[in-house]
Amino acid sequence: MKTNSILIKNGLMVTAADECLADIYIEGEKIQCIGKGLTHQADQVLDATGCYVIPGGIDAHTHMELPFMGTASSDTFETGTLAGLHGGTTTIIDFAIQTPGESLEGALNQWHEKASGKAVGDYAFHIAVTDFNDSTRGEIQVLIERHGVTSFKTFMAYKGALMVDDRQILNLMAEVKKFGGFVTTHAENGDLVASSVAQYLTEGKVTPEFHAKSRPPICESEATGRVLDLAYSGDHPLYIVHMTCEDALNRVRMATLRNQKVFVETCVQYLLLDDSRYLEENFGGAKYVMSPPLRTPRDQEALWNGIEQGLIQVVATDHCPFCLEQKRMGIQNFSKIPNGAPGIENRVELLYSEGVLKGRISRQKWVDLIATQPARIFGLFPKKGTLSIGGDADLVIFDPKVKHMISAKTHHMNCDYNPYEGWQLQGQCRTTLLRGQIAVDRGQAKIGKGYGRYLPRIANQSGGIHV
Ligand code: URP
Ligand code: ZN
Ligand code: ZN
Repeated sequence: MKTNSILIKNGLMVTAADECLADIYIEGEKIQCIGKGLTHQADQVLDATGCYVIPGGIDAHTHMELPFMGTASSDTFETGTLAGLHGGTTTIIDFAIQTPGESLEGALNQWHEKASGKAVGDYAFHIAVTDFNDSTRGEIQVLIERHGVTSFKTFMAYKGALMVDDRQILNLMAEVKKFGGFVTTHAENGDLVASSVAQYLTEGKVTPEFHAKSRPPICESEATGRVLDLAYSGDHPLYIVHMTCEDALNRVRMATLRNQKVFVETCVQYLLLDDSRYLEENFGGAKYVMSPPLRTPRDQEALWNGIEQGLIQVVATDHCPFCLEQKRMGIQNFSKIPNGAPGIENRVELLYSEGVLKGRISRQKWVDLIATQPARIFGLFPKKGTLSIGGDADLVIFDPKVKHMISAKTHHMNCDYNPYEGWQLQGQCRTTLLRGQIAVDRGQAKIGKGYGRYLPRIANQSGGIHV
């Protein structure tokens, strides 16, 4: 059978390292050749004049079909990964969440069931460990070595549901490190949150703004400092998910003074939206109920600075959409509003328009945050996350001139609102390729259900992550 081939001509190829005008020749699923004035005979020639050609985005933090708070997030692996492809994200790393009392492998199987034959984009899994005991300890090696799951999440919040204690975190860190994996953490003090939620509810303060008030920065900075100390005590590598505020970032800054190895992720909403959103009328604040909550403009500034200073390596989304009807579960009690918001489709374009065009980050940093660092940290590089000969032909032809508006009316995420409704952006993903196939072209999907492939990841056998 003849292999499909594509030649992309005249684009400005942008990677995390540099940029140059170059043509890219793709055969089958792989990039075969990068150079000037390529003359390969290809089945299709795509003219990228005036456009950037960037690696496909990797969203390292998503929740498709997550059963959570009495409902389930509204994007399936099919709708969510397709929305990602529309917005230049070709790979996601989703969380398979252990049901307390059950096995980790059971969780992984459940998530494979949701994704296999359905995902349009490529996917990998982290496992969220909610119950670490002798039996789950015995599963870690197999998960890393046989199933390619190398990162394990712990929740320091969601008391009574997903939260684990410090001892479990520490024991998990030690076990996964033996096999070259590492722990990622949702850092919020679950006891502090639970007690302040109870207090507000007792006082009759039930509206969405009290979601944010019940989880102030101290909840996050305390847990961040604690998990950093736990990791430091055993010289374990650590990745902190969805960091939102200056106080937590300063804990990381302090940890670097003792040369601690730590990776930090923030999410696009924490860079661009602030806590005034919780005051939107008609229960509109519920759209932004997520944990940790949106913070202040000062915190946003601190996060942008943290990116520039290299303290934050990854910008993800924590894509976890719930429709407005689902949000209404908490109309009389903010603590019952399902936590999470959509974002996968808008991350790459928002970060260009609000980050690069506003002079906050360079084009190289943009690519690094959205693709290269997640690939490196999570064991997908250089197959994913960059443009290199022999790597997967996952790439985006990005037109930096096109102006467009974000709206729930036109987005592809299965959610009836968009947190950035009405925002005018400049720069658009024109064509997205996944493993050598045009996945989306000018808003039209060209591949469908089941094209996405599971990506087993590679652990660092030296027992730490070196990026
Ligand atoms: O509000 C959020 N973040 N929902 C998803 C679960 C989590 O904490 O990551
Ligand atoms: Zn979380
Ligand atoms: Zn999450």
